[in-house]
Amino acid sequence: MYLRQIGDTKVSSIGLGGMPMSIEGRPEESRATATIHAALDSGVTLFDTADAYHIGADEVGHNETLIARALASYGADTSQVLVATKGGHLRPGDGTWTLNGTPDYLRRACEASLRRLNVDAIELYQFHRPDPAVPYEDSIGALRDLLDEGKIRMAGISNADIDQIRTAQQILGDRLVSVQNQFSPAFRSSEPELQLCDQLGIAFLPWSPLGGIKNAADLATTYRAFGDVADEVGATAHQVTLAWMLAKSPVVIPIPGSSRPETIRASAEAVDLRLTPVQVARLDQP
Ligand SMILES: NC(=O)c1ccc[n+]([C@@H]2O[C@H](COP(=O)([O-])OP(=O)(O)OC[C@H]3O[C@@H](n4cnc5c(N)ncnc54)[C@H](OP(=O)(O)O)[C@@H]3O)[C@@H](O)[C@H]2O)c1
Repeated sequence: MYLRQIGDTKVSSIGLGGMPMSIEGRPEESRATATIHAALDSGVTLFDTADAYHIGADEVGHNETLIARALASYGADTSQVLVATKGGHLRPGDGTWTLNGTPDYLRRACEASLRRLNVDAIELYQFHRPDPAVPYEDSIGALRDLLDEGKIRMAGISNADIDQIRTAQQILGDRLVSVQNQFSPAFRSSEPELQLCDQLGIAFLPWSPLGGIKNAADLATTYRAFGDVADEVGATAHQVTLAWMLAKSPVVIPIPGSSRPETIRASAEAVDLRLTPVQVARLDQP
């Protein structure tokens, strides 16, 4: 597995997104555990989760708990694994997603994630989504305090625009190590944030890189260029999508979601795919 850098830590250049294993449509725990173990078998060392990946109001942190349990039951060394979680997004249990970016709330959320992940410090804690009701500086200030107290080792932001990335960098300095934004063949408007991360040497983690849980199956037919290049190189459109992202910049680390061992194995294989500059240019066309 090829490695990339998040802050001072090397991780697999493709991570596993945990959301499909914990929200609506999720599999039985045994299949989710098998998926996480398949990721580890394939050399994946980055796991992206969030306290908000759950369904009912009484099961906050479902995905964090699932990942912690699966790591514990793996039966081999997992010391190289980086679990990146997030706080600031909530699911009240009625299917909606809400926000709370107040420093008080973020502190409580982080402390609960620490307990669920069963660690002394969270390796990478990401502010999930800006809360328009709270000045961005205040939410990022909460991350700074958590870093200062050693509750989190590195900080990231998600769903951030250019100004917010610069604000977070001013407040956190080089302790801001990642930006997680939506980026896929279907959603390309965060290319400026990707390019800024490339300039700043901050990891850029594309979320829903395959178009999201509902649309991933249609990738090859909806985005014909990806299907065509897949036929040329003997891979799937999903693998070509991940290889295309990896080719954009060494700071890019896609986090495709999976709920089956087969799909994370296939995604991990995409690190070996090399696209020509001409193929990349074709895929770059919207
Ligand atoms: N920061 C944020 O606001 C935010 C928002 C959304 C998501 N995320 C993160 O980003 C991760 C990825 O996004 P996502 O899960 O929404 O969407 P996604 O990665 O675009 O698509 C996930 C779906 O793609 C399928 N898939 C995965 N690898 C495949 C492969 N190699 N070939 C064919 N199909 C494949 C999976 O199917 P199976 O289920 O059948 O395995 C899964 O249901 C999430 O899990 C989460 O960690 C973050």
